[in-house]
Amino acid sequence: MLQKLHQLKDKALQALKMVSDSEELESWRIEHLGRKSELNQILHDVGRLPPEERPAVGRLTNEVKLALETAYEGKAEALKRQELERALREERIDVTLPGRPVSLGRLHLTTQTLREIYAIFGQMGFQVYESPDVETDELNFGLLNMPPHHPARDMWDTFWISDEVLLRTHTSPGQIRVMRERCPEPIRVILPGKCYRYEQVTARSEHQFYQVEGLAVGHAITMTDLIGTLTEFARRFYGPERRIRIRGSYFPFTEPSIEADMDCILCDGEGCRVCRYSGWLEICGAGMVHPVVLENGGYDPDEWNGFAFGFGVERPAMVKYSIDDIRLFYGNDLRFLRQF
Ligand code: DAH
Repeated sequence: MLQKLHQLKDKALQALKMVSDSEELESWRIEHLGRKSELNQILHDVGRLPPEERPAVGRLTNEVKLALETAYEGKAEALKRQELERALREERIDVTLPGRPVSLGRLHLTTQTLREIYAIFGQMGFQVYESPDVETDELNFGLLNMPPHHPARDMWDTFWISDEVLLRTHTSPGQIRVMRERCPEPIRVILPGKCYRYEQVTARSEHQFYQVEGLAVGHAITMTDLIGTLTEFARRFYGPERRIRIRGSYFPFTEPSIEADMDCILCDGEGCRVCRYSGWLEICGAGMVHPVVLENGGYDPDEWNGFAFGFGVERPAMVKYSIDDIRLFYGNDLRFLRQF
């Protein structure tokens, strides 16, 4: 029996050497130390041995059991270490690899251009005033000196929502809103915002676009103040060498009305495709605020006067960055937008 126990131990330890993963180790444990193992059987049967054999067999059996248990634990430890080493080796992170770049958003070119415009006018003392995109007929036209059936309304093809409500065709109705809110204080604001026109979409015109309106109301404001403001803006926005030209024009809400042109930045006034060989680019409509409009805003035209102007935002950006199609602004093509 004693010899059998020694053999059993040697055989088990030999088998343990061949174990190479935790699954095999578990099978080994069941076979050699489990309830149905030979060793357990012997331990169980010690009581049936002749009394003189019992102590020696009992002791050796326990010794073998302890030896196998110790060997088992040692092996389990070793396997765990091996597994850890493998993981460290195979799953090692190469910290010298460059990281994955986070994709960054950016401001839309229109937003960038608007902010540039705000900054320039901000330095000239103009506040930003926002007014709604959805307007009434009265504010968009009537109070701007265009009663129903006034022929000048045809200058703006309109998206009507109902007989009375429309999408603003220009930012000028904001003039009335800001005057009514601020009266009787002097005013110096710009009114940026989106405008809508029921027009065919082409490379040069969209049915939605931004405008920036300007309004100054005070005492003894002159046309020279207006021209100086527009010239200063053009030089800050396009470069200090720019020249401005003024032409007489007509808008129902200004008297007198003008349009301002700037020498073409692409050909320096020589004439090119962009300026249609005239050497000049139209930059805005403007004028001295019409007395009727001042009155509609709450100001007494005998005491107050002012100037106003309005220009688009996408077109100046197109000229500045040589963009040849206005539809790109709303095309949502990231290849275009990422360039700015
Ligand atoms: N509202 C005009 C337009 O959309 C632009 C304009 C012209 C605005 C003259 C003004 C102005 O304030 O005085 O065509």
